[in-house]
Amino acid sequence: MKKTILITGGAGFIGSHVVRLMVNKYPGYRILNLDALTYAGNLENLKDLEEKPNYAFVKADITDEKAIREVFEKHKPDGVIHLAAESHVDRSISDPLAFIRSNVVGTVNLLNAARNLWENDKEGKCFYHISTDEVYGSLGATGLFTEETAYDPRSPYSASKASSDHMVRAWHHTYNLPVVISNCSNNYGPNQFPEKLIPLAINNIKHKKDIPIYGKGENVRDWLFVEDHAAAIDLIFHKGRNGETYNIGGNNEWTNIDLIRKLCEVMDKALGREPGESVKLITFVKDRAGHDKRYAIDSGKLMTELDWKPSLQFEEGIEKTVDWYLKNEGWLENVLSGDYANYYSQQYDNR
Ligand code: NAD
Ligand code: TYD
Repeated sequence: MKKTILITGGAGFIGSHVVRLMVNKYPGYRILNLDALTYAGNLENLKDLEEKPNYAFVKADITDEKAIREVFEKHKPDGVIHLAAESHVDRSISDPLAFIRSNVVGTVNLLNAARNLWENDKEGKCFYHISTDEVYGSLGATGLFTEETAYDPRSPYSASKASSDHMVRAWHHTYNLPVVISNCSNNYGPNQFPEKLIPLAINNIKHKKDIPIYGKGENVRDWLFVEDHAAAIDLIFHKGRNGETYNIGGNNEWTNIDLIRKLCEVMDKALGREPGESVKLITFVKDRAGHDKRYAIDSGKLMTELDWKPSLQFEEGIEKTVDWYLKNEGWLENVLSGDYANYYSQQYDNR
């Protein structure tokens, strides 16, 4: 019998790359994409998969306990890859409850549904929870997050993700639910909603608008190309050990200011502008409240145990990303036409 894999949040940035990889690589699986299609969910991300016989979409909200129970009863998934979440730190600062609802309550609804369905047969079952390195808090100038680093979340977003990680582990220990968790660093690549730093900057550079840099731009993030994250998810889903956690990172640290300078250079070249033209758009604005200083991941466990490594150097990844955004103007215009203008002025006017 064909295995059914339920992927939540498959219409979002990372989820759409995971769905594509699974549908194309595993014709023997039925891939069910469950997504509420919030502002961040976009079925246009998956247009190329619509006709695939092993792909189906169901619109549902993970905070809706009854709807989730019915999806599990109807489709009887053998595996869950859970990505659905509110994912933007700035939004979590202005509306924390939305993050508690989707990220905590939504995750518990999925855990309960999986627990009920797999109660008497756990063979080959797996609940895979996708999380973030932000649960570990903020690093100083040195050191890396390992799987043993104590949790120290500091934003409503990271606190909600940390809480959901704890729930997943609690369901494993208390109810014997087969689970695996991964915590990944910042992703970049095609299809990322332009509220996040890299696509926001690409869009602003394209339109010669100011590029807002929080504080002095000295905060450090470890950037990973989204397809490398999706490949790691595939590996961990199939080969990760029950109850384990795996960290995923790019070994690719940048201060925000250096990253944006590099992006300006790539954009000037791609748009045929004079070198140095876009860097003039950089504008320092009021810092994010509680802005974590540095994230950096030690992926040693994943690399040695499952033989994973990132496939792309950053230079190549950022050029591919810029190229995608410039070629997919329609995608960008569509996502920008929603309530993006309101969001942008709330976040950045008077900053
Ligand atoms: P995203 O915001 O682009 O997409 C989230 C998706 O989840 C959207 O399609 C949205 O419609 C859906 N969703 C949100 N709330 C929902 C709900 N209540 N019910 C059903 N669907 C809902 O996010 P992303 O950047 O693709 O992140 C995906 C996952 O990976 C998240 O769990 C996030 O915490 C984690 N993560 C992201 C990064 C990153 O750099 N983006 C890094 C590490 C981990
Ligand atoms: P972001 O893409 O929001 O990811 P996260 O906060 O989850 O790491 O932001 C990446 C970094 O860029 C973070 O240090 C905040 C900073 N930033 C800016 O300087 N300006 C911006 O307009 C945005 C959205 C982020």
